[in-house]
Amino acid sequence: MNELVLKIENLTKTYKLSKRDVQPLIDLNLEVKRGEFTAIMGPSGSGKTTLLNIIGCIDKPTSGTVLIDNIDIARLPESQLYKIRRDKIGFIFQNFNLLPYLNARENVELAMELSGKFKGQRKQRALELLAMVGLSEREQHRPQRLSQGEQQRVAIARALANDPAIILADEPTGNLDKNSKEEIVKLLANLNQKQGATIIMVTHDEHIAASAERVLFLSDGKIQDKQAQKGDSSAANRKQSSKVRM
Ligand SMILES: Nc1ncnc2c1ncn2[C@@H]1O[C@H](COP(=O)(O)OP(=O)(O)OP(=O)(O)O)[C@@H](O)[C@H]1O
Ligand SMILES: [Mg+2]
Repeated sequence: MNELVLKIENLTKTYKLSKRDVQPLIDLNLEVKRGEFTAIMGPSGSGKTTLLNIIGCIDKPTSGTVLIDNIDIARLPESQLYKIRRDKIGFIFQNFNLLPYLNARENVELAMELSGKFKGQRKQRALELLAMVGLSEREQHRPQRLSQGEQQRVAIARALANDPAIILADEPTGNLDKNSKEEIVKLLANLNQKQGATIIMVTHDEHIAASAERVLFLSDGKIQDKQAQKGDSSAANRKQSSKVRM
């Protein structure tokens, strides 16, 4: 399980504005192992979303290398990049981003349609994923009829649809009440522990971040690695013990 799924070296991102440049990421380095659950915290405007967008192939680095499964996405043309985005990345957003006119199952299926899975296969997989997030009975409900927490669970099912190498979650609990926050973070921790999902989650909430195996801080354009490494109460140890129980 030590294989690196993500290796970022000297990543710099500059936005050119008319009066001055904004440089949220400066020579940033980051490594993520397969099966790791990483939380990223940092002040507003420190570049957390910019970083996730670059890893998720939505935005391009200005310089540096970003290896996902050993492919340098910084050097790929858009014609190749969308395939990496589609096949290797699952996104979870603060505001869920479900399509309002599709029901829960169709929202999950859409992700697979884009990657060319057959219809029967798509439906079965979507139902399995909705069952996994505890929403079997809601498959025909449109987002409007689901609670915020349920909508986020559909979004998690959608993020998993194509078996991504990395799940990127940008403040996934930011719009949720206390109970739904707990539910969603438990679900993510479970996916990580039981299915080995690799998750990078941005959050402003220390309590939510504590569910991850390591907590990193982004400031001054760099990851400041101040993680509370694997003490007795850490998620990493809970992960070990839950593995023993399984
Ligand atoms: N497309 C863009 N064009 C110009 N500047 C941008 C763009 N996207 C982000 N920025 C700037 O880059 C900096 C980092 O923004 P980013 O959204 O990554 O921060 P963040 O850490 O996610 O903040 P928050 O916690 O508020 O979500 C900010 O100064 C922002 O204004
Ligand atoms: Mg952000």
